[in-house]
Amino acid sequence: MEKWMSLVMLLLLISLKTIEQNFVVKAAEEVTYDGRSLIINGHRNILFSGSIHYPRSTPQMWGDLIAKAKQGGLDVIQTYVFWNLHEPQPGKYDFSGRYDLVRFIKEIQSQGLYVCLRIGPFIESEWTYGGFPFWLHDVPGIVYRTDNEPFKFYMQNFTTKIVNMLKEEGLYASQGGPIILSQIENEYQNVERAFGTAGSQYVEWAAKMAVGLNTGVPWVMCKQTDAPDPVINTCNGMRCGETFTGPNSRNKPAMWTENWTSFYQVYGGLPYIRSAEDIAFHVALFVARNGSFINYYMYHGGTNFGRTASAYTITGYYDQAPLDEYGLFRQPKYGHLKELHAAIKSCSTTLLQGVQRNFSLGELQEGYVFEEENGGCVALLINNDKGNNVTVQFRNSSYDLLPKSISILPDCQNVAFNTANVSTTSNRRIITSRQNFSSVDEWQQLQDVIPTFDDTSLRSNSLLEQMNTTKDTSDYLWYTLRFENNLSCSAPILLVHSAAHVAHAFVNNEFIGGVHGNHDAKSFTLELPVILNEGTNNISILSVMVGLPDSGAFLERRLAGIMNVELQCSEEETLNLNNSTWGYQVGLLGEQLEVYDEQNSRDIKWTQLGDIIVDETTLTWYKATFDTPKGDEPVVLDLSSMGKGEVWINGQSIGRYWILFHNSKGNPSQSLYHVPRSFLKDSENSLVLFEEGGGNPLGISLSTVSVTDLQDDFSKLSLPTFT
Ligand SMILES: *[C@@H]1O[C@H](CO)[C@@H](O)[C@H](O)[C@H]1NC(C)=O
Ligand SMILES: *[C@@H]1O[C@H](CO)[C@@H](O)[C@H](O)[C@H]1NC(C)=O
Ligand SMILES: *[C@@H]1O[C@H](CO)[C@@H](O)[C@H](O)[C@H]1NC(C)=O
Ligand SMILES: *[C@@H]1O[C@H](CO)[C@@H](O)[C@H](O)[C@H]1NC(C)=O
Ligand SMILES: *[C@@H]1O[C@H](CO)[C@@H](O)[C@H](O)[C@H]1NC(C)=O
Ligand SMILES: *[C@@H]1O[C@H](CO)[C@@H](O)[C@H](O)[C@H]1NC(C)=O
Ligand SMILES: *[C@@H]1O[C@H](CO)[C@@H](O)[C@H](O)[C@H]1NC(C)=O
Ligand SMILES: *[C@@H]1O[C@H](CO)[C@@H](O)[C@H](O)[C@H]1NC(C)=O
Ligand SMILES: *[C@@H]1O[C@H](CO)[C@@H](O)[C@H](O)[C@H]1NC(C)=O
Ligand SMILES: *[C@@H]1O[C@H](CO)[C@@H](O)[C@H](O)[C@H]1NC(C)=O
Ligand SMILES: *[C@@H]1O[C@H](CO)[C@@H](O)[C@H](O)[C@H]1NC(C)=O
Ligand SMILES: *[C@@H]1O[C@H](CO)[C@@H](O)[C@H](O)[C@H]1NC(C)=O
Repeated sequence: MEKWMSLVMLLLLISLKTIEQNFVVKAAEEVTYDGRSLIINGHRNILFSGSIHYPRSTPQMWGDLIAKAKQGGLDVIQTYVFWNLHEPQPGKYDFSGRYDLVRFIKEIQSQGLYVCLRIGPFIESEWTYGGFPFWLHDVPGIVYRTDNEPFKFYMQNFTTKIVNMLKEEGLYASQGGPIILSQIENEYQNVERAFGTAGSQYVEWAAKMAVGLNTGVPWVMCKQTDAPDPVINTCNGMRCGETFTGPNSRNKPAMWTENWTSFYQVYGGLPYIRSAEDIAFHVALFVARNGSFINYYMYHGGTNFGRTASAYTITGYYDQAPLDEYGLFRQPKYGHLKELHAAIKSCSTTLLQGVQRNFSLGELQEGYVFEEENGGCVALLINNDKGNNVTVQFRNSSYDLLPKSISILPDCQNVAFNTANVSTTSNRRIITSRQNFSSVDEWQQLQDVIPTFDDTSLRSNSLLEQMNTTKDTSDYLWYTLRFENNLSCSAPILLVHSAAHVAHAFVNNEFIGGVHGNHDAKSFTLELPVILNEGTNNISILSVMVGLPDSGAFLERRLAGIMNVELQCSEEETLNLNNSTWGYQVGLLGEQLEVYDEQNSRDIKWTQLGDIIVDETTLTWYKATFDTPKGDEPVVLDLSSMGKGEVWINGQSIGRYWILFHNSKGNPSQSLYHVPRSFLKDSENSLVLFEEGGGNPLGISLSTVSVTDLQDDFSKLSLPTFT
């Protein structure tokens, strides 16, 4: 009886709330919410959303990606805003080309989809420095993401800049635009405790600041169970149907801002394959448990062009998403989720308006029913048994449920969809070779210079921290030393302890070896025997970072670079060189000369390939030209024959590559590198690589990519509709 009473009270509350909110609705596009869902323009819907990050593709790709997302049954495109792209210097903004946020949002709007805008401005996202511009590091007294005045100033300044820009363009739903949601901060709860009470004060401040910007649409905080009213707390993760503790208030809807369709990949890591069945199961479960907004992270991952990837993250991003790195369909994931969306959409009115009940159907089986007074009825029948098919009885009918699956019955009778019953055919990627660069004549090369102490002007009697020294203008920092040998042994061990990612050591202009760390280790040690001259010796160590860190508390205090250098004759006789006078060079000579820039490249004396023997002891730039393959299939470079470095096409970096870093199966984590067609001219494209690992450019090839199934396979996907 009591239960019944409280249910009535709750329903009464919900409907009163709804009436009240509907009453307030004046502008046609007003976005509000209650305990059940977002309410847009007076209407409720279960919204499927997908993350597509504008700088991870090109404006020329956006239209097609969004069209495919729409065709796949999405209602919303979600993106972060990338502060370090937009504000490279304080107060100097860049919204050109791939950074054209307004153009991206307008493209979404023109195709009739909504936008969820995750401003952050901390975004993590496997993006270098979590999206923070590096200049923040040098703001006096700054502590990121806490109740710290300098930080709050810049965060508010940027957030305001973005909101005002979008308001001027009329892009919020409250103005008739497509943006229905904004996000402030990002998974802050992961670090909140490190800041003590200042952390919770910051959460309050961030919510208030955001709400004060008067966007007219709701704000969310993801993974923040205590998100202050009216900000909605949302779930991120793989299994929100199981893990989400729910909205922190009765009048906030259950929303899932990141359903990971796969996982990002690091150098040395294996691709994370999440099956279509597993994703569909967790989405259906979330809907069964009142979820009304589900975002796929990522729907299209794309490419970490240039040096935008965070520490050890590979250049391709979420290639396993429903749309692959190039924007091609990944089947059966894309098609299976499309069917799931259609099945849920076919009964979303009843899901949203019906009264939910759940009941047991067996030891590991359960059911959820949503029923309306007018007879509308939806059932979701769940088999949590991973190993067995089961037959369950529901309303005098029996239903066969596949292992670990959910059947959706939009009329409480007929099965429209089972999450484990995949009818979409799998597809395969086809790589077509278009050009080989195997002729020595095609290539020119340029040796980079190994600086010695005398070549440097920046000096310090200590080992400098790398990020603070390069200001992230380069992955590379040279540590050089002139050293008078007074050791008693002639072949000591050189020990270099580094908190960067790679170290290459040179003694008296000879390469003696290199070592690298990995994503999960904070540091690594190079330990190599060296032969020293009597008297003066030159030691030069090239310290390399493969992206800046993107997560954790106190990012501004993170240390990288060489931490300790010693020469060891024996355990008793060790010479520590940390406080010697070191000379520094930020970046490579080729970077300073911008040899990848076509104009500059002409003024540089390149030599024919073969003049100098290519091996891992050299730091070499290579250059060739090529014509664009005909057609419109995506273009890739196969760099399997290379070692480690970065590639530029017509002066634009398409990212880092690191072939030598093998995963546990003995393969490089990524061999194919996307060359967006919009980076290409019809002919005479310039290809420049910097190689630090002894790779062989004669093995490079240019290919195009397609997939086996074509558009016509899709048109067959028609779905039963239930009214
Ligand atoms: C942001 O800061 C700059 C100075 O760095 C200032 O010119 C600008 O007015 C500020 N913008 C906002 C919206 O506070
Ligand atoms: C989102 O999908 C991933 C699979 O890619 C799954 O492992 C994860 O649990 C889902 N997230 C949530 C919150 O359920
Ligand atoms: C779903 O919402 C109903 C109210 O409509 C509530 O009684 C029920 O507990 C909710 N279920 C879950 C799993 O949150
Ligand atoms: C209904 O769902 C809730 C929340 O998931 C669960 O705690 C409860 O045991 C379920 N009830 C039945 C009868 O299965
Ligand atoms: C479940 O049933 C399907 C066919 O209905 C069959 O293909 C599958 O092998 C069965 N799985 C198990 C674990 O029995
Ligand atoms: C199920 O069958 C029983 C007896 O055969 C009947 O009384 C009941 O009304 C049926 N229920 C439904 C939902 O059809
Ligand atoms: C899978 O779905 C098809 C229809 O698409 C249906 O014919 C078949 O019986 C289903 N299989 C299982 C095991 O549910
Ligand atoms: C490139 O070389 C590979 C293997 O050597 C060969 O299979 C392929 O056909 C060549 N591509 C072209 C366009 O000549
Ligand atoms: C960064 O470098 C500057 C000198 O360029 C120095 O004054 C400052 O102390 C350094 N900061 C850190 C955190 O190392
Ligand atoms: C060797 O030279 C270093 C300074 O470079 C000095 O600190 C050290 O005491 C010298 N060692 C011996 C054995 O002379
Ligand atoms: C050390 O470097 C200096 C300046 O580049 C050079 O003149 C000298 O020959 C080098 N010494 C050795 C032992 O290579
Ligand atoms: C280097 O100097 C710092 C202080 O400037 C000191 O703390 C440290 O112990 C010295 N290291 C060595 C190895 O002498």
